[in-house]
Amino acid sequence: MKRLTVPAIRARKVEGVTAEPIVMLTAYTARQAQLLDPHCDMLLVGDSLGQVIYGLPSTIPVTLDMMANHAAAVVRGSYHSVVVVDMPFGAYEASPEAAFEAAATLLKASNAAAVKLEGGAAMAETVAFLVQRGIPVMGHVGLTPQAVNVLGGYGARGRSDAEADKIVSDAKALCDAGAFAIVVEGVVEPIAIAVTEAVSCPTIGIGASAQCDGQVLVTEDMLGMFERVPRFVKRYEDMAGLISRTAETYATEVRERSFPGPDQTYQPK
Ligand code: KIV
Ligand code: NA
Repeated sequence: MKRLTVPAIRARKVEGVTAEPIVMLTAYTARQAQLLDPHCDMLLVGDSLGQVIYGLPSTIPVTLDMMANHAAAVVRGSYHSVVVVDMPFGAYEASPEAAFEAAATLLKASNAAAVKLEGGAAMAETVAFLVQRGIPVMGHVGLTPQAVNVLGGYGARGRSDAEADKIVSDAKALCDAGAFAIVVEGVVEPIAIAVTEAVSCPTIGIGASAQCDGQVLVTEDMLGMFERVPRFVKRYEDMAGLISRTAETYATEVRERSFPGPDQTYQPK
């Protein structure tokens, strides 16, 4: 199977209609990427790895080095999905030039296909600057976790008319600037639908609507690795329980000296 391309993803939406929804999950490691890759169209090396992998309180402290290293692992572990890498907070907001340098660093280190950045109309100039210079960009509007200190939390966006209008115009500005797709996160459903209808590029929903052109989730959330997850997460499995039970069984067997057994020990010929 040949690796999908950014233009192929963009072309899924034809005259406002996406017949086959785009499937996206986060991946941070090579093995995780291997397992998810056959089922996905895109893998996102999200800066959510700050919380999920590193135990940080938010995505704010995530560095370019962290993103580059995990992105390289995910590209090595996948052969089919388009790999998109999050630009970490602080690496791209100051200027289009700063953003280009950060994005080029990420793509050179990893061979990923595209970057994602948060923000609306204020980032449109940067999106155009990158796309014109060979770097595909995915946008991200609505609940943008890097702006947690401005937003004041992780609650759903678009509940007031003014906020709703701004989310739609932000998405339009990103799409007009050349973004190939836009993540729409944590918005009330009518806004997710309005954005999806307003822009010609695909929308990827998370806490948004099944009417979006695709969906993304944090894989560890989907797998049930965490007790506390946002309302929009569906926990498809109980991985946390599985890991705890397995560790408990191992600990018991070590303590009663039943592991290693005959199958796991070497004997002289
Ligand atoms: O960092 C991340 O995982 C993301 C997705 C949740 C969209 O940005
Ligand atoms: Na992110």
